[in-house]
Amino acid sequence: MTKIFRVDPQHINKNALKECAKLIEWGRIVVFPTETVYGLGANAFDEDAIDMVFKAKNRPQDNPLIVHVPDLKMLKVIVESISENAQKLIDKFWPGPLSIVFKKNPVIADNVSCGLDTVAVRMPSHPVARELINLSRVPIAAPSANISGKPSGTLADHTIEDLKGKVDAIIDAGNCKYGLESTVIDTTGKTPILLRPGGITLEEIEEVVGKVKVANPNAERPKCPGMKYRHYAPNTHFILIQAKNNKEIRVKLIEKYNELIAKKKKVVIISSKELKKELKLKAEFRVVGERNDLLNLAANIFHVLRQLDKEKYDCILMGSCPEEGIGLAIMNRIKKAASEVI
Ligand code: TXA
Ligand code: MG
Repeated sequence: MTKIFRVDPQHINKNALKECAKLIEWGRIVVFPTETVYGLGANAFDEDAIDMVFKAKNRPQDNPLIVHVPDLKMLKVIVESISENAQKLIDKFWPGPLSIVFKKNPVIADNVSCGLDTVAVRMPSHPVARELINLSRVPIAAPSANISGKPSGTLADHTIEDLKGKVDAIIDAGNCKYGLESTVIDTTGKTPILLRPGGITLEEIEEVVGKVKVANPNAERPKCPGMKYRHYAPNTHFILIQAKNNKEIRVKLIEKYNELIAKKKKVVIISSKELKKELKLKAEFRVVGERNDLLNLAANIFHVLRQLDKEKYDCILMGSCPEEGIGLAIMNRIKKAASEVI
């Protein structure tokens, strides 16, 4: 049975969180909100609890989890050392959507990191996440709270759809501010490596630590194991139109749209307000904010993909956005979610 707790992040009901913290302490698994996406949490010291997380979301056994801490005291217990670059990033971006890879202390269960000698850690800023970790008094390992392969959950309802009956509790605290997962950066070597773009941008990070290497998501043995899997995908056929500029996107999109309509397909276009106007198509649209407001697109994209799945379209079309700032993280997710890129 899954217990569902509604918690207002502005006026936290401590009793509900105390009950959830007990569950974590006792080795059970709990869905909780963070500022990025909802997480499926378990005690990072407890190998059996971590096993339950992998099973509940059907996660591949070689994709390690991020550990969440409330303060630096707990960080120091679970990592071997903190490099100079890591310290600079912590000072600037914690608490917030940045996960940092450290050498792992053996107190962390081996299956958290799938046998690697490193562990990714972040300090969330969401008040409910922070209170939950504080009350449970253990670091909480948490992947995104979705069935592996599906879009991450940015509302408790998404996690209820995917995980009700498979987890002990779900804490509903409304929507997640960023809507995309944390940035993952490896600081164990001399030059930091960006493993996954996310809520904190590459440009913001380079301002603090200088040049950063960007990991190749298509490498044979990626440094960030999660990168090799198809992810974030709706069930509906999802076509990403990639082009250098808006004009080219419009041309390719209209061509593809007409081709699909000729085949009697039911099509919907995810677009900005501006693109919808420019296309002048009598099509069905799902407008997600304005062209220059990519934060709004980031915050809503997973929700929109889940919604459109329920509306029984044959095909979803979407144009690319520039891969800079938060656009790098959006495109990283969209490329993985797409069934076809043209
Ligand atoms: O925003 C987030 O990061 C959310 C919330 C819940 O905190 N969590 C999340 O977890 O997105 P998940 O499991 O969906 O993604 C974790 C990513 C994966 O790509 C994984 O490969 C990488 O982090 N990762 C974890 N530990 C790692 C390690 N030791 N070395 C390299 N990559 C690691
Ligand atoms: Mg995930």
